[in-house]
Amino acid sequence: MASTPMPCPSFINIVSFLLLLCLCHHTGMAAGESFACDLKDATTNGLPFCRVNLPLGDRVRDLIGRLTLQEKVRLLGDIAAAVPRFGIKGYEWWSEALHGVSNVGPGTKFGGDFPGATSFPQVITTAASFNASLWEAIGRVVSDEARAMYNAGTGGLTYWSPNVNVFRDPRWGRGQETPGEDPVLVGRYAASYVRGLQGTDGNRLKVAACCKHFTAYDLDNWNGVDRFHFDAKVSKQDIEDTFDVPFRMCVKEGRVASVMCSYNQVNGVPTCADPNLLKKTVRGQWRLDGYIVSDCDSVGVFYDNQHYTSTPEEAAADAIRAGLDLDCGPFLGIHTENAVKRGLLKEVDVNSALLNTLTVQMRLGMFDGEPSAQPYGNLGPRDVCTPANQELALEAARQGIVLLKNHGPSLPLSGRRHRTVAVIGPNSDVTVTMIGNYAGVASINAASQADATVLVMGLDQSIEAETRDRAGLLLPGRQQDLVSKVAAASKGPTILVLMSGGPIDVTFANNDPRIAAILWAGYPGQAGGTAIADVLFGTTNPGGKLPMTWYPDQYLSNLPMTNMAMRPTHSTGYPGRTYRFYKGPVVYPFGHGLSYTNFVHTVASAPTTVAVPLAGHRNSNSTTISGKAIRVTHAKCNKLSISVHVDVKNVGSKDGSHTLLVFSTPPGGSGHWAPHKQLVAFEKIHVPARAQQRIQINIHVCKFLSVVDRSGIRRIPMGEHSLHIGGVKHSVSLQASTLGVIKS
Ligand SMILES: *[C@@H]1O[C@H](CO)[C@@H](O)[C@H](O)[C@H]1NC(C)=O
Ligand SMILES: *[C@@H]1O[C@H](CO)[C@@H](O)[C@H](O)[C@H]1NC(C)=O
Repeated sequence: MASTPMPCPSFINIVSFLLLLCLCHHTGMAAGESFACDLKDATTNGLPFCRVNLPLGDRVRDLIGRLTLQEKVRLLGDIAAAVPRFGIKGYEWWSEALHGVSNVGPGTKFGGDFPGATSFPQVITTAASFNASLWEAIGRVVSDEARAMYNAGTGGLTYWSPNVNVFRDPRWGRGQETPGEDPVLVGRYAASYVRGLQGTDGNRLKVAACCKHFTAYDLDNWNGVDRFHFDAKVSKQDIEDTFDVPFRMCVKEGRVASVMCSYNQVNGVPTCADPNLLKKTVRGQWRLDGYIVSDCDSVGVFYDNQHYTSTPEEAAADAIRAGLDLDCGPFLGIHTENAVKRGLLKEVDVNSALLNTLTVQMRLGMFDGEPSAQPYGNLGPRDVCTPANQELALEAARQGIVLLKNHGPSLPLSGRRHRTVAVIGPNSDVTVTMIGNYAGVASINAASQADATVLVMGLDQSIEAETRDRAGLLLPGRQQDLVSKVAAASKGPTILVLMSGGPIDVTFANNDPRIAAILWAGYPGQAGGTAIADVLFGTTNPGGKLPMTWYPDQYLSNLPMTNMAMRPTHSTGYPGRTYRFYKGPVVYPFGHGLSYTNFVHTVASAPTTVAVPLAGHRNSNSTTISGKAIRVTHAKCNKLSISVHVDVKNVGSKDGSHTLLVFSTPPGGSGHWAPHKQLVAFEKIHVPARAQQRIQINIHVCKFLSVVDRSGIRRIPMGEHSLHIGGVKHSVSLQASTLGVIKS
């Protein structure tokens, strides 16, 4: 599901605002009402499931023990039915908060006291900040606003965000919803945003987040293949070192309360019916403490569209037995009872599903009586769209803007020298009002007279969106032509501002000396215009970096979107995907981003040799070492990390924020196992002009210096690993050791 946040009132145009007022209606709970266990309800008062001082597991089991099979199956869909005899109201599980509380999920109703919510930049833009504390801060604001709406009876507490599929193919219409192409970056984003949403108050949840769509889901509709029918053929190697990574980090590090399985099949099995993916991996290995939900109607989809089972009861049974706990849609509610009656499923399997959903509701406090008496109970309308929240949306847009080219340098513009600025292009009217203080009247004539010309170009949701993948990477329509003509006619410098989720092949503009500078703003959200103006005029020094590779259009010539392989196939000319595996020409590489100042790095201290202790396997020679690499499961991984100190000096004349990216290249000869480069750490710091700062970076050896072999087994190659720290290279030699000593 896509997720369009409803922006704060001042940003809504009057027509949609009036529409909202008419559409607003309330379902479910009214303001301040309890979802369950109301103190005034004599029938439930004192029942164990309502007793806040009992252990959660006891409360959940008590409640399940009281329900009939019919009552239970009516709790398996997103529109969970009320259980009136136990004072439990109905609940809509589906709410969305990809980059702000959204109007897409039916659990959230705008209107009345809540005409809108703070709309942050699209995720791809926020990811470009490479600032994990920003991601967590955004999550905190979103969950404040969500709780405020819940307290008033107009919002849910279960949010099916973030989208943490790796942005594998540049054409993917939903790539904009993700934090980019690198699994570690996506995983860090997921863990940080989820922490912000869920809070860090022990077992209690502020709201419940959901990492989706598990797994290998990153094709919407390409060349006659759509997500409802696609069978993604994925190797064990790519699953382990690419597709699973963000989900594993989301569950293990972010402690997310939910994972959503996807529409597509993986290797012939619908993900929502695959016990290996759900029961074994997500719940067994990663220990999800939460519920697994289907994508909307995906159980229906694998029965109706994929014909995976011959009866709907089998589909219901397969999904629940695979580990699915909740259906977005009515399918399980309709067919599960018969599945039990026909012996395809046991009632205890239904109980296991409810155990997971009800536990999350209890962790949210939904069985603790009135919302106002609970933690977060004081949040209300005055906590939504506050000046501070809107300032954070502006700050996120500023931090996410990436300066791709700055010839001369011609940016920043100066208010004195560039008194008139022409703003031109199909995307200019969305920003023109907000950079109006600087802007002259737009027209192609305008460029020949203005002191500077800003062309706002790029894509929009008619070109890249959910259910819509792109056909190519060039600017759409006649935009390229327009850019070149305006640049030729302009008196002053021409600045190209690009709005898009996915990468654009702007080789022509990069090579055109008359195009002085290029900015990428992604989809910068409600405060995007201000942020762009701040960067153009230098009140903000840009520090964003590309979270995905910008490829030339020819890259697509031998790249079916349906080919899931990350690694190249030299015999067929298949080029491989992302900076980790593709070695061909690029327009701009992953991590590219300029500043108005310059930073210089020096490694202050770093080990040159690290011993990797073996976890006491007796026959260590034969079982743990194979091809000079140690199985991660055979190493003593706990706390085995490399600590690097780096000095970052701002050698320019402007203060700036800088992200230090650290990549590693495994020893030569790791062959087909290894990416040629992998992001292992990143850290964002602010450094005033001419100042220097020291950063400490810790690299967990087993997590980040391991590579995955063809059978999907993670191994740590022994020998020289090369760390790329900013522009500096540093070699660390890993050596297998039976002694747990780390030398430096
Ligand atoms: C491991 O290899 C070394 C050197 O080849 C040998 O001396 C030792 O006995 C071997 N240990 C085992 C447990 O096989
Ligand atoms: C990261 O984002 C936070 C929240 O906006 C901000 O306070 C901090 O300064 C940012 N860090 C850097 C180095 O820019």
